Amino acid sequence: MEPFRFHLFVCTQQKPEGVASCPSHGSLAVLNRLDSEILARGLRNEVQLTTCGCMGLCDEGPIMVAYPEGVWYRHVQPSDIPAIVDRHLNNGQTAHSESNRTSKSVDRLIWNDAAAMKAMSVEHGERFRAAMAARDRAGALPDPLNDMIRGYMPSRCLLTALELDIFTAVGNGASAEQVGATINANARAVAMLLDALVALRLLTKAGEEYRNTPETARYFVQESQDNHRNGLLHAADIWHRWSTLTEAVRRGTHLPFETARSAEWTRNFIAAMQRNAKDRAPLVVEALGTGGVRRVLDLGGGSGIYSIAFAKASSDVQCDLLDLPEVIPLTAEYVNKAGVSAQVHLRTGNMLHDSFGSGYDVVMLNAICHSFSEEQNIALFRRALQALVPGGRLSVQDFILNDDKTGPLHTALFSLNMLVGTDGGASYSEPEYTRWMKEAGFSDVRRISLPGPSDLIVGISK
Ligand SMILES: C[S@@+](CC[C@H](N)C(=O)[O-])C[C@H]1O[C@@H](n2cnc3c(N)ncnc32)[C@H](O)[C@@H]1O
Ligand code: FES
Repeated sequence: MEPFRFHLFVCTQQKPEGVASCPSHGSLAVLNRLDSEILARGLRNEVQLTTCGCMGLCDEGPIMVAYPEGVWYRHVQPSDIPAIVDRHLNNGQTAHSESNRTSKSVDRLIWNDAAAMKAMSVEHGERFRAAMAARDRAGALPDPLNDMIRGYMPSRCLLTALELDIFTAVGNGASAEQVGATINANARAVAMLLDALVALRLLTKAGEEYRNTPETARYFVQESQDNHRNGLLHAADIWHRWSTLTEAVRRGTHLPFETARSAEWTRNFIAAMQRNAKDRAPLVVEALGTGGVRRVLDLGGGSGIYSIAFAKASSDVQCDLLDLPEVIPLTAEYVNKAGVSAQVHLRTGNMLHDSFGSGYDVVMLNAICHSFSEEQNIALFRRALQALVPGGRLSVQDFILNDDKTGPLHTALFSLNMLVGTDGGASYSEPEYTRWMKEAGFSDVRRISLPGPSDLIVGISK
């Protein structure tokens, strides 16, 4: 069976550093070039492009195989791709104007000595199994454990690069000295960081010049419209809290930290919330529906992204958004920018103490409950019930743990994020939310699945 006319395999098997592999010979760049070449030639629906694991020919990598012909290539480089595509997908015709090659120019890469290939693959398999057995006998730490132990290093490099705004300083190309001068940092240390970022494939280097990759230029450079740096700086802020996890586990709560947060911390935090919820907010509004909804209360509304989505979805909806005094001026910026200030009304207050008002059709708690303890959440739900009209809905949106609380991974880790950062917060499971809502007096409590990491739990006021 041939669901596609062509099927191309590129080996992308990662191996420990220093061990020959297709990625160490550049197979990821080959894969990217192949992908863009197929797209550029309008062949996306003709070709299945598949990454594959080790074929035991690692010293000869990058290895790729083209079917239905069954042609094996070795030592492929991105510059060979136009000719390979010409050969297989364009019936041997040179189609790429940049390339003066004919498909013949890649003959030198074709490997058709089946006996030698098989011998190499078999020998590789035997060597690999012997090496693994020797490591096991010696009691060496397995690679996945090693990688997990040192996993903070790449993360820390990237966070530091974001804090120092390295990617903006690199711009369209700069030396370590130039970057050091721009960000007012030590040139030798900057060079070490830039080199590590190259090793992490977040920059490229030619001679003394560093350049952004297409990804870092898009997501981490100030002038780019998709720049996420401000939102991501929140992750750099909470890095310091995570360093206190050991002590927090001993104590059962976080270590004392400065509760008066800087204006910059709050701005970064709200930017991060806005970035996280940008795609999700319209989905939440769609899931809840605007039929019959006139008044919405958005508790801890942050950037206002959910109220804005409600206001945009229906001109009949009026939203009241409550948040802390240091946040409301930032909310006002987002709401004004969205052009919905006539429908979204901002209120300064503390949701744990201050009155909610009454007569609401929907009360929203988006990404709020994980900051609070069980008792605080039940109390919030009780007061939300009082604020709703009969038949009104309480909507809790959050990361929801599996019933046994051991996953999803992100949600289990996020629970610890709450341990180090809040007095009594945690990630909670569906049975917990359901029980609390029922205890508070809601009926018909149900979960609504959303695409992405968080879901809704919705209860109806009797
Ligand atoms: C994780 S953010 C979620 C923001 C928004 N709901 C969203 O999903 O994008 C939590 C929000 O609750 C606000 N908040 C936290 N404690 C609060 C309190 N006691 N009273 C009012 N707002 C509070 C924070 O200022 C922040 O805007
Ligand atoms: S890593 Fe590609 S063939 Fe072994």
